[in-house]
Order: sequence, then structure tokens, then C-alpha cells
Amino acid sequence: MSHLPALRNRTVSLGGRPVLRDIDFAPQPGELVALCGPNGAGKTTMLRALAGLLPGFTATDPRRVAYLPQGARSVWGLTVAQVVALGRIPHGDAATASVEHAMALCSLMPLRDARVDRISGGEARRAMLARALATEPDMLLLDEPTADLDPAAAHDVMRLLRRTADAGCAVVAVLHAIDLAIAYAHRVTVVGEGRILADLPADRALPAVAAAFGMRAGVDPAPRLLPP
Ligand SMILES: Nc1ncnc2c1ncn2[C@@H]1O[C@H](COP(=O)(O)OP(=O)(O)O)[C@@H](O)[C@H]1O
Ligand SMILES: [Mg+2]
Repeated sequence: MSHLPALRNRTVSLGGRPVLRDIDFAPQPGELVALCGPNGAGKTTMLRALAGLLPGFTATDPRRVAYLPQGARSVWGLTVAQVVALGRIPHGDAATASVEHAMALCSLMPLRDARVDRISGGEARRAMLARALATEPDMLLLDEPTADLDPAAAHDVMRLLRRTADAGCAVVAVLHAIDLAIAYAHRVTVVGEGRILADLPADRALPAVAAAFGMRAGVDPAPRLLPP
């Protein structure tokens, strides 16, 4: 029995308008779930509801649930190591080993003493991810974590999320990179117009994702970048 946050037949209205309708969504320990769907479908709202950040939703224990908002960036003149250590605040400890481990996982060791306002957007995003990992949460919620990363860095982050899930965490990532979702997630949940349209093992999800975008699923022989 999991004690993780879950949405059970929940409807959410924002500004007097229903944004999510009859949503059942219960990420399990050990799975990486990709949330896919068009802009405005309600993906961010689902993460915020799970994180307990919406009125009427139970506030979650920040030691157990880490939420990385879209485009999250630390703007102060802290170093990378200091930003990652902020992930320990909910625990009230410094847990140096957790901080070092999270930095190593995110390939941040060479940048540990760099100021976060003087590194690239992609590097800063890795620092924010490491901060979330340093919390050692049971559930990790990420809103478009690969959005501003170069293709190799995006694969690195996906591999890391998959490993985090395989180690027992429930990981949910909003992804527009459908190829990454299908390559790395265990499960793909397709959202459209405030409803869950499909919830499938990743290797069977492409047709449902395509339908949500009004596109076709197919095999394209065009040259493309592949992971090493
Ligand atoms: N605070 C808010 N007040 C009113 N409407 C909102 C608010 N936040 C989001 N919405 C609306 O809810 C819908 C879903 O938004 P969102 O969850 O951000 O979608 P997605 O992340 O899938 O792009 C959109 O139509 C958006 O305009
Ligand atoms: Mg969004």
C-alpha cells in the first residue's frame, strides 16, 4: 500500500473554469510516468495538485515529495553546491553525502563552486534537478525537465530519472519530447482538455499520444540524433 499523493476522481476548477475533470492518477513507487498532451491540457495543474499546491488539496510533506516547476531557476548568487544543499532544508540537516551524491548524479562536480547565475540555462536546470534529488523524495514531480537542454543533456536527464524510478521513487515528468517519453518512461499518461485520454505502457503509447495532438504515428527513416 502506497502512501504517496494520488488524484482520485478529482475535478479542479481555476478562475471559475473546470481545468481537470474526473482525474484518477496514482503514480506508484518504482515507475517513471511521462505526462504528455497539448498545451493547456492540464498537465501542470495535475503536478501542482499532486504536490498539494492547489486549494482543496492536502499539502504534502516536502521531505517526501519534490516538485520542480517549469523553468525553475535559482537567481541568487549562490554556488551550485549551495543550491543543491537547499534540497536538505525540509529535513533540517546538511546530509553532505546526499548533496554530494545528487551533484555527482547530475554531473555537477566540475561546477560545484560556480555561481548559479553565471552558468548556462541547461547547467542551472541540472542544479535544480540535483537540489530536488538531494531531498531524496519518495515522489519526484518535474515539469518539462528537458525543455531547455541540448539533446545529449536531455538523454542524460532521462536516464537519471529512469534510474531514480528504478531505485524506488515515483517519478512523474511532463514531457513534450515524445521520443524521450517512449524511450525512457515505464508508462505514458496522455492528457487532453482536462481529462486523461489514455494511460499505457510506454511502448504502446505512441498512437494515443499522436491522437491527442491530431497527428499520425509512424516510423520516420530520416537521419536523427541517437543516444551514444
Ligand atoms: N491560475 C489559473 N487560473 C485560471 N486558469 C488557469 C490557471 N492556471 C492554469 N489555468 C488554465 O488551466 C488550463 C490548463 O493549464 P495547465 O495545467 O498549465 O496546462 P498544461 O501544463 O498542460 O499546458 C489552461 O487552460 C490554463 O489557461
Ligand atoms: Mg504546463
